[in-house]
Amino acid sequence: MAEFFASTARGLVEPLEQELKDLGLKVLGKTAGGVYFESNWEGCYKANLCSRLASRILKPIMDFTAYQPEELYNQILRHDFTKYINPNQTISIDVSVGESKMRDQRFIAMKIKDAIVDQFRDKFGVRPDVDNYNPALRIVVRCVKNQFNVSVDTTGDSLFMRGYRKEVGEAPMKENLAAGLVKLSEWDGKSPIVDFMCGSGTFLIEAAMMAKNIAPGINRKRFGFMNLLNYEKASFENVVQEALDAEKEEIDFKFYGFDIDNKVLKSAKENAREAGVDDVIEFKKESVATVEPPVEKGLIIVNPPYGARIGDEDNLRDVYRDLGFTLKHRFKGWDAWILSGNKDLIADLKLKSTRKHFVFNGNIECRFLKYSMF
Ligand SMILES: C[S@@+](CC[C@H](N)C(=O)[O-])C[C@H]1O[C@@H](n2cnc3c(N)ncnc32)[C@H](O)[C@@H]1O
Repeated sequence: MAEFFASTARGLVEPLEQELKDLGLKVLGKTAGGVYFESNWEGCYKANLCSRLASRILKPIMDFTAYQPEELYNQILRHDFTKYINPNQTISIDVSVGESKMRDQRFIAMKIKDAIVDQFRDKFGVRPDVDNYNPALRIVVRCVKNQFNVSVDTTGDSLFMRGYRKEVGEAPMKENLAAGLVKLSEWDGKSPIVDFMCGSGTFLIEAAMMAKNIAPGINRKRFGFMNLLNYEKASFENVVQEALDAEKEEIDFKFYGFDIDNKVLKSAKENAREAGVDDVIEFKKESVATVEPPVEKGLIIVNPPYGARIGDEDNLRDVYRDLGFTLKHRFKGWDAWILSGNKDLIADLKLKSTRKHFVFNGNIECRFLKYSMF
């Protein structure tokens, strides 16, 4: 058994913890940025393939204190990095640092890289090259107050890159954040979801994949763990087969996406098709001012524009007023969740929220608010 760390967006740690438990993984603890779990490597493959909320699965390997470059170099030498890849493969070192004596990320990365490649050179006479874009072995280092935490990345490209999204609108949301918000909404998994401003369709596609039990990573060709020397192909194939066997061919309800922009609707349709859920999502051009319930009952999840990236605040006031009016007058009896990074615009809804979560959409702190339309 080994210890792994699943990282996620701030605000999604609790639902990620539940998700890992649901995947049968043993949770050891959590931080503000993610969840530690214990499992064999097959469990790590499963977390990479099946977690909808994680950004990355890391394998922590070292914790130590270092104040000086030489100390850092010598500490890194204590771990055998030659067991992960061949010397003809490539490496990269990702460093984040805060409140420490050594502050220069590039210098820290270089010192760590020197210690690692020297190990290879001593053992094999050749050393791995650095490839910052597509390395075989990505070492992730966090340093806070001179305390270094070193991990091997098992993911490769971040897990939000499911592979289905070829086209995006102007302010698309990361897929793992969209999935996390669907989880936070306490959607029952078996009733329709409506998105009045669906953009490239991320909420609906993620929810539809949940409903059809399609593993989020099923379309990905590569994961970081495939480059490691201990990669057990047969174990991963087992995990994939289990995921495929668990998929549901049909569900007896639908998802509905509206937007005023024909271009983003075209992308949304294309993305849904790539994700294998176009049969259960209906997209239609409609303004939030005029949208009517497409079904008798369901849950609404909306991410209206909030000025930070698209649109301008004054024009958006009308959009928020229209959204509030539509909910109040045409969606009586429905529950709605709205994600917005702009408090002032939220006030323009003229509705009182009954639940609130704080999440980060990139660097923007957002509120995810529930409104019950009695
Ligand atoms: C922040 S984006 C939604 C992004 C979406 N969650 C995604 O992941 O792609 C907001 C969307 O609202 C749409 N929109 C703006 N004003 C609208 C209106 N009055 N009625 C309907 N849609 C509108 C925009 O076209 C845009 O696609």
